Amino acid sequence: MPEDRPRTDAIRPQPGIMEIALYVSGESKLAGHTDVLKLSSNENPYGASPKAQAAFAAAAGNLHRYPNTDHAGLRAAIGEIHGLDPDRIICGVGSDEVLQFITQSYAGPGDEVITTEHGFSMYPILAHAAGAVPVEVREVGRRIDVDAILAAVTERTRIVFIANPANPTGTMVGEAALHRLAAGLPETALLVLDGAYAEFAEGFDGGASLVDTYPNVVMTRTFSKIHGLGGLRIGWGYARREVIDVLNRVRQPFNLSVAQMDAAEAAIRDVGFTRFCATENAKWRDFLRQALVQMGIGCDESFANFILARFASPEEADAADQALKADGILVRKVAGYKLPNCLRITIGDEDACRRIIGVLAAFKGVR
Ligand SMILES: Cc1ncc(COP(=O)(O)O)c(C=O)c1O
Repeated sequence: MPEDRPRTDAIRPQPGIMEIALYVSGESKLAGHTDVLKLSSNENPYGASPKAQAAFAAAAGNLHRYPNTDHAGLRAAIGEIHGLDPDRIICGVGSDEVLQFITQSYAGPGDEVITTEHGFSMYPILAHAAGAVPVEVREVGRRIDVDAILAAVTERTRIVFIANPANPTGTMVGEAALHRLAAGLPETALLVLDGAYAEFAEGFDGGASLVDTYPNVVMTRTFSKIHGLGGLRIGWGYARREVIDVLNRVRQPFNLSVAQMDAAEAAIRDVGFTRFCATENAKWRDFLRQALVQMGIGCDESFANFILARFASPEEADAADQALKADGILVRKVAGYKLPNCLRITIGDEDACRRIIGVLAAFKGVR
């Protein structure tokens, strides 16, 4: 090695980076199976709206053009469909990127970011990436406890992350508790309501009305779940203007491509398809949950597009996972979320749910 090259150990990452435990995504391949039923990533079993697919294909003719930097068309469509002011919306490469804008903008070294016991694993990753300290608050019976969160707040707290419905538990914090949390936080802390699964909870606005009520509440949403565009990576956030202005400063101008924006706009405008996906999900979610409960597999009520199946022990959960894999079915192990005796199962279509029930019934020896 030439003398003038720096020693590798002299090049140091920023504080916090080496604390990051890499994100583990749902498995997608299974040795020995060509026709795998993937229920490990909460993807939409009905795919994306045909209108979104057509918009994506049409964008192929314009690949040489830079996209617009303000996402005006997509923000207008989101605003129209959800009844929100487009000037208070920001779009990102998945809602993950919007969560990153928020953490990067509002938390830094010495600051605390509150997450919860079974919370989405990106929150501590983002806190560490910003040099901040993630503070994990216990849940009660797989439910977020807003009073425990309020008790954990210090003068260093800058952000509180809550997914509602939550992943991987599928449970929800009710409206009254959400208000108690928003009202109880100091003005210096942001409450981030991650609504990645909001559309699956009937009648829930994802927290938009809380954003309008409290200055320090931000809502994030995604096109990856109900709109079936996980592969394309589009998400958005809604907050008061001053917060959106801050987030836009750290956003790269061309973060979304023409294809992403066109497909997302067509998807959100296809209200009929969105409704179809929500209705089918609710129907088969209830069907699957009831069947599992009848077999003696614990299952909290879920408000999302997955259920959390609770087995008697981590060993039984592993054995059930093996039985599903033997049938070509991939679900999500969630020991990394402090739920070692559970498996998270994405709600597929009718055939998928019946197949899961068949395998688990045989596994439990009840049919
Ligand atoms: C709770 C929650 N938030 C955010 C995301 C990120 O979704 P995306 O970046 O695809 O919008 C996910 C994805 O699984 C999630 O489960």
